Amino acid sequence: MTVERNYDLSAHNTFRMKVKCACFAEYGSVEELAGLDWDSLPRPLKHIGEGSNLLFTGDFPGTILHSAIRYVKYVDVGLDEVPVIAGAGVRWDDLVAELCGHGLWGAENLSHIPGEVGAAAVQNIGAYGVEIKDIISGVSCYDLVTRKSCKFTVDQCRYGYRESMFKEAGDRYVITSALLRLTRSPRPRLEYKGLSGVDASSPASIRNAVIDIRKSKLPEPSEIGSAGSFFKNPVISASDFVRVCNAATGVSVPHFVLDGGMIKVPAAWLIDQCGFKGEREGGAAVYEKQPLVIVNATGSATPDDVLELERRIVATVHERFGVSLSPEVEHLPK
Ligand code: EPU
Repeated sequence: MTVERNYDLSAHNTFRMKVKCACFAEYGSVEELAGLDWDSLPRPLKHIGEGSNLLFTGDFPGTILHSAIRYVKYVDVGLDEVPVIAGAGVRWDDLVAELCGHGLWGAENLSHIPGEVGAAAVQNIGAYGVEIKDIISGVSCYDLVTRKSCKFTVDQCRYGYRESMFKEAGDRYVITSALLRLTRSPRPRLEYKGLSGVDASSPASIRNAVIDIRKSKLPEPSEIGSAGSFFKNPVISASDFVRVCNAATGVSVPHFVLDGGMIKVPAAWLIDQCGFKGEREGGAAVYEKQPLVIVNATGSATPDDVLELERRIVATVHERFGVSLSPEVEHLPK
């Protein structure tokens, strides 16, 4: 267990913002988590994973909690379905690589996504037609209010598009492990247009294809700081969609009609149409190959650079299309 004061968070956020927290506490087991000297920890408390979906907007006045629970347990029930329990501190992509290496199906489309298991289950990460909720059976948690361990089924997690009960509950529940269901029999998911025609002979071959796509569109976290998609794809009404089409002046608007008639429009397209690709603000920039991503282009971007670029994008997209973009990346402090 590590508890440090006035701690530098540069290595704990993939945006690489140079910020500090009043206290940083890392634990290696549920027992260590429960045994923290809670009353001495500065408030507020905030649990993070790899910090790959976070923008630190300045120094954090409270305690950052981080899980180093890093075990992977295979429950061999001798059937087609293979339950796997993964500790919250396991790097998500290390787990996906391991599962694909064992020839287990289910997680391959979610390859090369930065982050750790606990945060992936809070955020309901998704890519290429799959969300983590599709392979989660349940999660184990530590309740910071009752100071007891508890479990939730996937239904109780109330997953939606990058949403879950854990986000609604504020920072009450700390996920300590997730129970995933993989299968031995093939179940390739190739609906996403970029995956049609790829070699689907094994989870590893799909993983390789997904990694190629991500590398061609998204910045490599090891090379350039970012937090992936900065905005959510907006879901709008049919009448708002007509307004977007009118504002698009002759260009057809990419869109997906959802159950119930609401329409999802790619935020990347709206931002692209407003001419933001490559746009700079101090050390921050809109990524050239995927304008949904804001990057720390110089390595020395400040939180204010990113916030100003965010403000300009939101204002311009709203003015041109009447659509309000909301950030996917969590801002801390809010
Ligand atoms: N587009 C443009 N210009 C561009 C790039 C894209 O107009 O320069 C438009 C195109 O119409 C394209 C559409 O945006 O068809 C969608 O682009 P893409 O398929 O790359 O996906 P996305 O909707 O922008 C979402 C997730 C990604 C995930 C991909 C693939 C969100 C907020 N983002 O992006 O997740 O990898 O789908 O499934 O839902 C993340 O959450 O950090 C993330 C990267």
